Amino acid sequence: MRKHIFNAGPCKLSDATLENTSKAVLDLNGIGQSIMEVSHRSKDFQAVIDDAVDLFKELLKIPEGYSVLFLGGGASTQFAMIPYNFLNKKGVYLDTGTWSTKAIKEAQIWGDEKVEVIASSKDKNFMYIPKGYTVPADADYFHITTNNTIKGTEIREDYTSPVPFLADMSSDIMSRPVDVAKYDMIYGGCQKNLGPAGVTFVIIKDELLNKVVDRPIPTMLKYKTQVDKGSMFNTPPCINIFAVRETLKWVKSLGGVEEMDKRAQQKADLLYGAMDNSKMFKGTVAKEDRSRMNICFVMNDEYKEKETEFISFAAQKNIIGIKGHRSVGGFRASCYNAVTLEDVQALVDAMNEFEKLNA
Ligand SMILES: Cc1ncc(COP(=O)(O)O)c(C=O)c1O
Repeated sequence: MRKHIFNAGPCKLSDATLENTSKAVLDLNGIGQSIMEVSHRSKDFQAVIDDAVDLFKELLKIPEGYSVLFLGGGASTQFAMIPYNFLNKKGVYLDTGTWSTKAIKEAQIWGDEKVEVIASSKDKNFMYIPKGYTVPADADYFHITTNNTIKGTEIREDYTSPVPFLADMSSDIMSRPVDVAKYDMIYGGCQKNLGPAGVTFVIIKDELLNKVVDRPIPTMLKYKTQVDKGSMFNTPPCINIFAVRETLKWVKSLGGVEEMDKRAQQKADLLYGAMDNSKMFKGTVAKEDRSRMNICFVMNDEYKEKETEFISFAAQKNIIGIKGHRSVGGFRASCYNAVTLEDVQALVDAMNEFEKLNA
């Protein structure tokens, strides 16, 4: 039996992704070679990556003038590549949690004075999204993290920026329609809504390549190399790209990002509704900034010592991956696209039953 998987990433993938990828591991399209054996220069693999790029563009309605890349190194390498390529005088960052803080640190390698943290929610352990700041018009770029996987806040509005606008969407990509035209670059690790760990997506506006700083940049870390070579300057993570392609096909078959958006709302309403009506459980972040992808909650103080017990109680019901990150404690249920309403209902039933038994 499949478990109710609420892991933060790697995480639950669609059955279609798992079934089709496992078939391709044994034999890709009946060609007598595995997806792990086929040359990345073959027409068979070229068709896979082309299809993945086309589906990405179709599902997110990416306008003309953008490239979609599939790279190695994780979103963490993008934290370094961004300043390497684009930080000249000043990079502006919104600090909303662990991952944006890491992105800021990579930019500060070029000098603390070159990095402006325009607003931060660090004062309240990142439990809200800062608002009401103005991005300076002389910055090289403005960087945000749309979904804070660890703290459980999310920016679901596509902001307007006076300077090139870059977003880490590792943990909410493909969960809603995005106005891609407002961004110059969107990137993320694929290991949440798109596929297994080991491949990173980058959507980059071709015009942004004209803004690369004049400095020696290692070949692999230049966006231009990756755009010019169609993500294949070196050997790409072939099986991961295959699995992403299968996930994108699955998203399309269900009705695209509009349907994912609807489902994300239903799942979030169900789980947040349960904790808002509970005596035992409560949410941890500002209501208006609640993430639909990573739903964080704790037990009220009087029941606090029961938290570990609830994790075991849930595990007996095949519910796994709900332990909160150590910086928040309590619980985190990651409700990515492949997590079903039934999975969330199972968690809510377990919460209600545990509360009845203990409160
Ligand atoms: C929002 C966000 N950004 C960046 C990362 C880092 O991604 P990677 O492990 O692919 O480097 C993560 C990982 O969970 C994340 O959630």
